[in-house]
Amino acid sequence: MTSYKELGLVNTRDMFAKAVKGGYAVPAYNFNNMEQLQAIIMACVETKSPVILQVSKGARDYANINLLRNMARGATEYAHELGYDIPIVLHLDHGDSFETCKECIDNGFSSVMIDGSHFSYEENVAITKKVVEYAHKFDVTVEGELGVLAGIEDEVSAEKSSYTRPEEVIDFVSKTGVDSLAISIGTSHGANKFTPAQCTRNEDGILIPPPLRFDILAEIEKKLPGFPIVLHGSSSVPQEFVKMINEHGGKLKDNVGIPEEQLRQAAKSAVCKINIDSDGRLAMTGTIRRILDEKPEIFDPRGYLKPAREALKEMYMHKNKDVLGSAGKA
Ligand code: G3H
Ligand code: 13P
Ligand code: ZN
Repeated sequence: MTSYKELGLVNTRDMFAKAVKGGYAVPAYNFNNMEQLQAIIMACVETKSPVILQVSKGARDYANINLLRNMARGATEYAHELGYDIPIVLHLDHGDSFETCKECIDNGFSSVMIDGSHFSYEENVAITKKVVEYAHKFDVTVEGELGVLAGIEDEVSAEKSSYTRPEEVIDFVSKTGVDSLAISIGTSHGANKFTPAQCTRNEDGILIPPPLRFDILAEIEKKLPGFPIVLHGSSSVPQEFVKMINEHGGKLKDNVGIPEEQLRQAAKSAVCKINIDSDGRLAMTGTIRRILDEKPEIFDPRGYLKPAREALKEMYMHKNKDVLGSAGKA
């Protein structure tokens, strides 16, 4: 058993209380490898932002839980070395069972998500409560989910979303004891959130998707004043990286993500954690494709991973400063 406290990590409790009060959201960035982690830490130290390092089931399969735990420990030491001790959470993203959550808690995670959103309401309550009871013994915080997002949630993919029902939130939170609640108000996972056909164009010709259901968010906030709300599927799918990928041999559809303006609006409300994974994938892949295409003589991976890491860092800094409002809050 490794406690996250030995690793220099924190849970989400104080972080979220400050974010709700301060009207900003803490970034939850997924990582699977060293370059992504370096970029996240460099960006969050430079912008003085708290951060949640998210590990999906896919990341655990890819990288190994022991390595990931020690990478998170390394991240706290790296931040210190860079000159600023930002609060860092190691969080399990979309935990699919009690056993998965327990394994992560026992391995130094400071926060876990139990995603029971694909079960019946009663089953979701039961499994979430079980995880909370175990996690709280070790002062680990728990995120639950109500409502289903479209797209791929780890290995569970949903064709259609169903919005969170505000009438369920008080019952769910009080029965389970969760510390935060992920909701479904129109975001979805992956890089293909909205097709051009689902969008309108503004005066500059930019595709604008249908707005998030801020009315549902407001109702939830009214029912649970000051309670931390989480938004998954919040990548904006930067068109510069989609273009870069396609100009250098890639084949992505010209779909769009959540406009930054809407995320900014959500961050000012009870939404205090915003999950971003796909945008990191796009920035990294776009840059690597561009470098390999432009400099075919490169065969040292550092030759393309370093610029990819730089592009990631720039993107994360922009999100912290201009979208989530978390810069300067650490
Ligand atoms: O919510 C889903 C995340 O983007 C994780 O994706 O399982 O492919 O790492 P992954
Ligand atoms: P995106 O696919 O929009 O980046 O969402 C990531 C996410 O919700 C991870 O849990
Ligand atoms: Zn998610």
